[in-house]
Amino acid sequence: MNGLLQFAREDRGFPPSLFPDYRATVARSPREALVHMPQTLTEVTGPGPVWDKLMGPAIHDLTTQHKGAPLGQRIIVFGRVLDENARPVPNTIVEVWQANAAGRYIHRKDDWDAPIDPNFTGAGHVISDAEGNYRFISIRPGAYPWGNHKNAWRPAHIHFSLLGPAFATRLVTQMYFPDDPLIDIDPIANAVPLPYRDRMVSQLDMATTTPNWALAYRFDIVLRGKNQTPFEE
Ligand SMILES: [Fe+2]
Repeated sequence: MNGLLQFAREDRGFPPSLFPDYRATVARSPREALVHMPQTLTEVTGPGPVWDKLMGPAIHDLTTQHKGAPLGQRIIVFGRVLDENARPVPNTIVEVWQANAAGRYIHRKDDWDAPIDPNFTGAGHVISDAEGNYRFISIRPGAYPWGNHKNAWRPAHIHFSLLGPAFATRLVTQMYFPDDPLIDIDPIANAVPLPYRDRMVSQLDMATTTPNWALAYRFDIVLRGKNQTPFEE
């Protein structure tokens, strides 16, 4: 039972499984009481130290994966992975994926009328260092329409997946930008109530912003505790 209580999502500002304004949750949220599934050895221990090999070399610069530079505003996205006592969490695989500057993903299901950028794939991964730091170079993604309701547009966002030593430690969230008025009217962002929602909003960081090169946004990710970053299911 303790295990179930530990994962009472709504109590910690996590988005609920059912949030009717976010239409897809109506069909996919559970109708029956949840059944506790104990984790087995595979989820708790695998795949462990072979992650590095499975993931391939780190990709921290999403702007140099192709012949030319992608269109859009270059940004540095960085931060620390932290535990409930603000201690750094090293060796966490931090993956990101995002739309291009026009708001288009390279995905067969993304067919809205915005251009694909041949110089931008929009996915990368790194491993947090001994101080829990991670850092990406990318371009600022554009907003995109998503058909949830009339005139629905997602605020600019970067998807994050964090993976510790085992499958059971995967956490997924989204990072937003601090100057985006779409956040307040976005059902996905609003599935997370304030003040927890603000933990998914990055901060402009002028100390890391590089003159004549790139704006920097800090996004610290807290894995547990009262300051925990809200995570998706
Ligand atoms: Fe997205």
